Amino acid sequence: MNANNLIKDIIDKKELIQLVLSNKRNKDVEYTKINIRPIKIKDDFMYHLTYSYSNKEIHKNLSDKECIEEIISHINGNFKQVQLYCVNNDYQILINKKLNANVIKKKATKKPVDISHNRKKKYILEEDVPCDFLQYLGVMNEHGNVKKQKRDKFRQLNRFLEMVKDIESNFDKNKKIKIIDFGCGKSYLTFALYYYLVKIAKFNVEIVGLDLKKDVIEYCNKVARALNYDNLNFQIGNISDFNEFTEIDMMVTLHACDIATDMALFKAICWKSKVILSVPCCQHELNSQIKNDLLNPMLKYGIIKERFSSLATDSIRANLLEILGYKTQILEFIETEHTPKNLLIRAVKSKEEVDKSIVDEYKELRNFLNASPYLEKLILENNIISKEQLI
Ligand SMILES: C[S@@+](CC[C@H](N)C(=O)[O-])C[C@H]1O[C@@H](n2cnc3c(N)ncnc32)[C@H](O)[C@@H]1O
Repeated sequence: MNANNLIKDIIDKKELIQLVLSNKRNKDVEYTKINIRPIKIKDDFMYHLTYSYSNKEIHKNLSDKECIEEIISHINGNFKQVQLYCVNNDYQILINKKLNANVIKKKATKKPVDISHNRKKKYILEEDVPCDFLQYLGVMNEHGNVKKQKRDKFRQLNRFLEMVKDIESNFDKNKKIKIIDFGCGKSYLTFALYYYLVKIAKFNVEIVGLDLKKDVIEYCNKVARALNYDNLNFQIGNISDFNEFTEIDMMVTLHACDIATDMALFKAICWKSKVILSVPCCQHELNSQIKNDLLNPMLKYGIIKERFSSLATDSIRANLLEILGYKTQILEFIETEHTPKNLLIRAVKSKEEVDKSIVDEYKELRNFLNASPYLEKLILENNIISKEQLI
């Protein structure tokens, strides 16, 4: 069986359920895997391609013709293996060094799925299912109906929990998981985190929410007691002065203002937090530092400078975390139409030692931007990395 003809045939007949290109042959290709599945956008039958990199994913929608061309181009040198899950059979295609393809036919193992983009989204916190904290905070009524004006909040909470769910395998079910939420504010997300980890995922947790605002903290403690969320407590305090923990499993900081995010990241680094989830907010620091004549055509426009500074700040934070042994991703937290402050840094501690491989490119970026990042300053002042390594 000819592999190219097989792929064309299956896509032409709309019999593909999923296709995975893996086992990379070409080192110049940066992504390690491509996952393809059919999708319906309005009335058009398309293919959704997910390119997996070590620290991110890129998504693309292609027509059937474009999709066939893309797959065939990758078989011709980039990947050694293609796995096809189809309606009637599965196929494994193995491509040797001479680019000859061996097609192995197998029994079908996957059932076709509803590919309509319009199908009702299955959320972790479900609609029409009453949930105690969502009711208490006025997001849904006693029947579980989400209030119209709280729909964005409901989606945000669910999106956040999906990101937590993705990393929960880093936690030990037999131990108490210690979590701190820095700059917790009104704590919708903190309550959601507690609800998910304790009531759905069945972890044993201790969560502390910290904020500068006394009234907010009093209110959050009142809600936690009313809901009998026993291991959820809120404290008044400044992130930089909080020294109650010496080790921690997860640090969360969502929309903590400006360099409060850096203080929070620094604490998490010192405590060797296994997981970090951080949505930065209003990054002013670099805006006043960034200077490079090569960037003038961009930076002369205030709004571009502001957005560029934000992206540069988060890139610097993410790179510093990687240097310190965190596998780091930057994910879209919520659709941009709701807020431009929508990037989430998700970092999982993967090694103890400093990753020297990216130090040079980090230094080049920092020097190019004329930046003196606060997080770097904290790291150096506290000898987390020596000056010789980073300056
Ligand atoms: C924009 S609110 C975000 C609240 C919540 N995390 C959320 O995402 O909905 C930022 C919160 O961070 C708190 N905050 C800012 N700097 C802080 C610091 N240095 N220490 C503790 N809390 C801080 C503020 O008081 C405020 O409540």
